[in-house]
Amino acid sequence: MAVSNAVAALLNEYQRFAETEMKNLFAQDPARAEKYTLSLEGLTFDYSKNRFDEGVLQALFNLAREHHLAERIEDMFSGKKINVTENRAVLHTALRNFSGQPVLVDGEDVMPEIIRVRNKMKEFSAAVRNGLFRGATGKKLTQIVNIGIGGSDLGPYMVTAALKKYWAEDISCHFISNIDGTACAEVLSRINPEETLFIVASKTFTTIETLTNARTCREWLINALGEKAVANHFVALSTNAKAVVEFGIDANNMFEFWDFVGGRYSLWSAIGLSIAIAVGYDNFEALLKGAEAADRHFRTAPLEKNIPVLMALLGIWYNDFYNIHRYAVIPYDQYLKFLPSYLQQLDMESNGKSVRLDNRKITDYATGPALFGGAGTDVQHSFFQLLHQGTEPVPVDFIIPAVSHNECGKHHQILLANVLAQAEALMKGKTPDEAAAELRAAGKDEATVEKLKLNKSFDGNRPSNMFLFDKMTPFALGMLIALYEHKVFTQGVIWEIDSFDQWGVELGKQLALKILPELEGQANGEHDGSTGA
Ligand code: F6P
Repeated sequence: MAVSNAVAALLNEYQRFAETEMKNLFAQDPARAEKYTLSLEGLTFDYSKNRFDEGVLQALFNLAREHHLAERIEDMFSGKKINVTENRAVLHTALRNFSGQPVLVDGEDVMPEIIRVRNKMKEFSAAVRNGLFRGATGKKLTQIVNIGIGGSDLGPYMVTAALKKYWAEDISCHFISNIDGTACAEVLSRINPEETLFIVASKTFTTIETLTNARTCREWLINALGEKAVANHFVALSTNAKAVVEFGIDANNMFEFWDFVGGRYSLWSAIGLSIAIAVGYDNFEALLKGAEAADRHFRTAPLEKNIPVLMALLGIWYNDFYNIHRYAVIPYDQYLKFLPSYLQQLDMESNGKSVRLDNRKITDYATGPALFGGAGTDVQHSFFQLLHQGTEPVPVDFIIPAVSHNECGKHHQILLANVLAQAEALMKGKTPDEAAAELRAAGKDEATVEKLKLNKSFDGNRPSNMFLFDKMTPFALGMLIALYEHKVFTQGVIWEIDSFDQWGVELGKQLALKILPELEGQANGEHDGSTGA
């Protein structure tokens, strides 16, 4: 960020605050946790274990004001073309709009079309689930295969896994994304063509991975059941009707969405069809309504009480003032194990940018951080060593439901104890003196104490957010995902980048298309020595 008034104030705040330890802030203010915890429809969001005091927080809010965040939020919700490099509105929020209010793009209300496709999804998912829409040989379609990649895969993949408890008993979902033939082969070896519904999901319907996988699956189906079976076993989700028909899928079997829905923001659209079939349309709608609740909150809550705004500003505080360019998302919920991969696309494809909206190259500040994560407690036994004792802190988002879908002895109590312990350990740490005292109390001699006390100490002062959900229902999941979407949007506003394009994926695609005929011996290409070899 250019050194504006708000940035200059934050640089001063950083100097003033740098040495402050969170554990002392908690000791000084017994009300800190309560003060910095917000509630939203079954979610408790505790951001008190972050490196800030009131001065820092106010300076961060000023940064948001300086970037006219409130106006930018309205621009998005009201259909302005904020995806400037592609000249598109950004309206995934309209997909979960149940307010009855119109949403205009170029003066036209997009809601009637959205509602029409929602109804088509409702009807079709019910017909598949109750066996009204059957396979070519009359069998019920119980094996759902989503063929897509990126946003046309990760959303449905993550959400269907997260809502496994809500699946119809006789339905199973499979996902083919990678061009590696293994992805196709592994799924095809597990399914029966007579009972399989292939959903070809591609916004553009030009993505080489998806079209290649879809062709292979089509051939497999035709070999088993003949060409005519395609109409009963293939549907498409896309914005590109022409390409869908050219591929050989009937226009009636296409569920459309529109170019104001970005790929990584598309699970709320027709791209969510596999979700609606697996968990039923009512649960899919509950997911949308959870996201709508997050939308209402983001649009109306003041900055000081706005969860995505706080998530974003604290992220910027670490990214641009502490120079920590990474963060971790750790769901303590086995069903959410794919959430970090989903969020990687959401965050890193949106904000991994280095050109500003005013067309200037960014050289003097950092934009999107790298995100990684995995399910707790598994990852406690892999990368948590680095979180606790690595040379740089990694801010963490912990996510946990208070009540498990699978009450099983003391498992959930132990899980809860662990998430709380990790957040506390990161924040409090353990001084070398405390480590030494523990070693002495365990009867170690002084040489051993000296040798181990640093290794057994923890710097602490490592930040985390805690997202505690009453239960991980479809509504709660929708809300959680939308909160992250709005966090990413807010950061993009402050970094002054276009969070909704993805030009960075193009060069690799271009070169692969050039290299392919060369590998097949049909062309010669000029390459650097390494690639050529
Ligand atoms: O490679 C990037 C990307 O364009 C993503 O943004 C998108 O989600 C994915 O490819 C798949 O695109 P499509 O849905 O058009 O096949």
